[in-house]
Amino acid sequence: MLGENLQIGLAGLGTVGSGVYEALLRNRDILEARAQISYEVRRVAVRDKKRRRSVELAPGVLTEDWRELVEDDQIDIIIELIGGITEAYDLVRAALEKGKPVVTGNKALLAEHGNTLFRLSQEKGVPLYFEASCGGGIPIVRSLQNSLICNNVSAIVGIINGTSNYILTAMATEALPYHEALRQAQQLGYAESDPTLDINGWDAAYKGLILAMLAYGTPLRPETISVTGIEQVEPVDFTFARQLGYTIKLLVVIRHHQERKALELRVQPSFVPQQHLLSKVEGVFNAIAVRGDLVGETIFYGRGAGKNPTSSAVVSDVVLAMRECRLQGYHTGFQPYTQEVQVLPVEETVTPCYVRFRVKDCHGVIASIAAAFSRHDVGISATSSADGEHEGGKTEWNHLVFMLHACPWGQLQKALDEIRQLDTVVADPVVLRIETFQGT
Ligand code: HSE
Repeated sequence: MLGENLQIGLAGLGTVGSGVYEALLRNRDILEARAQISYEVRRVAVRDKKRRRSVELAPGVLTEDWRELVEDDQIDIIIELIGGITEAYDLVRAALEKGKPVVTGNKALLAEHGNTLFRLSQEKGVPLYFEASCGGGIPIVRSLQNSLICNNVSAIVGIINGTSNYILTAMATEALPYHEALRQAQQLGYAESDPTLDINGWDAAYKGLILAMLAYGTPLRPETISVTGIEQVEPVDFTFARQLGYTIKLLVVIRHHQERKALELRVQPSFVPQQHLLSKVEGVFNAIAVRGDLVGETIFYGRGAGKNPTSSAVVSDVVLAMRECRLQGYHTGFQPYTQEVQVLPVEETVTPCYVRFRVKDCHGVIASIAAAFSRHDVGISATSSADGEHEGGKTEWNHLVFMLHACPWGQLQKALDEIRQLDTVVADPVVLRIETFQGT
């Protein structure tokens, strides 16, 4: 049971950590009124005490050792915002062992170790809150846990990485070079300090795993999700997409194939029809479409990254922790219940696709590629082409685009393996899924 003047230990004072600290001070009146409890931030753990910071702390509050927070009997609740996996795991584990509720926004930690941590949380009867782990300020975790709990969820399709969406939007609308867009996203505090996971799709994949575990109540391992990042997308792909009535988004797709008791689980840059709401999600905004058998289609939209939106999710968890710990009843996280599902091999997932080849400018090139598609039973719905351009002028190769009818991913890969062998094809093709949103 929490004390009347709740003592908080905050581990991590980076972009989100300082946002959380400021929000706890700025909104103290409403938070204390809504939780019916008063609070103090008693200790803050940081890597380097001497570093200059935007927030001012009373002497004695800072420590370089998070263990001091866990060992401090006065501290009731721990907020973990140090990031990374290994140390964060030790911290959360130690806090739960000590009986201290934990609030975290660490998606990689939960995707890798969520099942172990929630098992511990249940054994100890100590809650672990994680609204900030998915979609920044969008209340998607709590919605799946509570508001949509009575639904069979047939699909979740979302844009859940703000940095990559910021980059793709800047490439599409301002023709900004990739590196400039990334630099802006970093300056604005959207990208992780090492943006690799934002770009290569893994940040979205971790969040997707969390959503899938919540929606289907089943443990899932990161190795089971098929992940492609945005590195392969080039400005010319946006030109083709626009001409064909689409835009390009990095989508997480979680689809339940009920008849096979299997989950389709993937992250890929994808063509999204211009008339679909997800195509209008720009910049750092995220949106998650959830389809349930009772509720039908829902779309959650908001800022998916950044100091204040993420702090909103973290601090709301703190308030919930204050309330729920007083009532002694809380959600059991990822603990499995009865639903049994497996992950569908990516080769068996079926969508239409956009494929762009760089080809030599010579006779018969379209026919030889079309013949290979035909041998593998991959249907073509349209083709398009454009001259290859570079700074020095026209190149000796062209862009050749094929829009393909829906076919299994594995079948397409076999056709592409054959096409890669053609002398006329000069680079690895760019392959983007086309999401039709049927059944979503
Ligand atoms: N780097 C993440 C994003 C922020 O760009 O969405 C929070 O997960």
